[in-house]
Amino acid sequence: MKITVAGAGYVGLVTSAGLAELGHQVTCIDIQREKIDLLQNNRLQIYEPGLRHLLAKNLQNGKLVFTVDPHLAYSNTEIIFIAVGTPEKSGGSVELKYIHEVAQQIAHFIENDVIICTKSTVPVGTNDLIKQIIENQKAPTLRAEVVANPEFLREGSAVHDFFHGDRIVIGTDNLEAASILKKVYQSLDIPVIITDIRSAEMIKYASNAFLATKISFINEIANICQKVGADIEEVAFGIGHDKRIGPDFLKAGIGYGGSCFPKDTKALLGIASGVEHHFDLLAAVINVNNFQQSLPVLMAKEAIGSLQGKKVALLGLAFKPETDDIRGSASLRIVNELLTEGAIVRAYDPAAIPNAQRVLGDTIEYAYDLRFALHEAELAIIATDWAQIKNAPLEVYPSFMKDPIIIDGRNCYSLKEIQKHSLTYLSIGRRC
Ligand code: UGA
Repeated sequence: MKITVAGAGYVGLVTSAGLAELGHQVTCIDIQREKIDLLQNNRLQIYEPGLRHLLAKNLQNGKLVFTVDPHLAYSNTEIIFIAVGTPEKSGGSVELKYIHEVAQQIAHFIENDVIICTKSTVPVGTNDLIKQIIENQKAPTLRAEVVANPEFLREGSAVHDFFHGDRIVIGTDNLEAASILKKVYQSLDIPVIITDIRSAEMIKYASNAFLATKISFINEIANICQKVGADIEEVAFGIGHDKRIGPDFLKAGIGYGGSCFPKDTKALLGIASGVEHHFDLLAAVINVNNFQQSLPVLMAKEAIGSLQGKKVALLGLAFKPETDDIRGSASLRIVNELLTEGAIVRAYDPAAIPNAQRVLGDTIEYAYDLRFALHEAELAIIATDWAQIKNAPLEVYPSFMKDPIIIDGRNCYSLKEIQKHSLTYLSIGRRC
């Protein structure tokens, strides 16, 4: 099928490369000429495992084309996926201007009947607005069906998730559009859920809010474990065996980050309050997460008193491993709080330093090697469980630090292992 993807962010790129790999003819359009120029030359600006290879392969065999030209993208296509950003506006609401702009362009440039699928995370009711914009502005003889098709890709494993997701959600009341979309994905062995547009939009928010709730819940239990002398790893293992609870998303730590959970939980709170519903549970999930991100600095102050002039090694800047994304990362809050306390911060991350430099500038030092970050530090804070960090032998801490104090915000090390070394080691929800 002839497919156009609007937006060359991580969702748009993974969708484009994935659909091309399935055999479709894909054109990916973005308004940023520089980004498109780089992509055409096989240069990818984001770190996403497997994506570079998939893009290169499908660019080379001509299944995937990049453009900034809306006529080329929209005038001769069957299906259009909207995958533009829906960033957070100040106050927590969702910025929909990119969605509106794309809808207007589509209406202006289509020359045949199309199905328009929204992948971007949009508040309930947005697809009806997209429909209205397109109906009002397109040529009256053309048919344009709008379908909600939310994405569930995780950064860092987005390529894997495209091919092996848990479900594909198609929100439409038009059975013909649903069956065409099913065909787009038919070579994937993934269950398809067909529902109405508004339920599809809500499935996306409810999924992310539920996952965030699991994380905040386990973090609260961890904080109580710490005080009563229980071990959160044992507790998570024990409760996760109940099939109704499940073992995933029960990893206690210093909270969730990223471009999705923080934004989507706030947006859902806004959607609820827009219909005069006080979503107290979700408000508590967000509050717990804010507290959790501050926990390492609270623990540091409790362990060593004033942080004024103290040298701190911050291990991990990305919001999770296998990505260079620092949006919503606990590390940003930790840096902010450490600097406010007068500490001197040197941060290590295998992929996210360039992004961190854009945001944090020279307020902190950067280390491209974990050992250099630890050199002469008085305190180490583990913020991201990258393999390079969690697999680092414990010996490196005493080798490079004076009297090592480690605050492990991701419970990377087993307590048994820790006991073999003379270290001050603090973690989340565990006895030591
Ligand atoms: C999340 C969802 O998992 C995807 O399904 C969704 O498509 C995506 O948002 C989105 O809306 O686009 P992502 O933000 O990439 O994906 O990352 P996750 O792997 O879900 O992790 C989010 C955060 O939760 C990370 O900071 C991670 O460290 C933290 N986390 C995760 C925990 O603290 N504990 C856990 O047990 C799991």
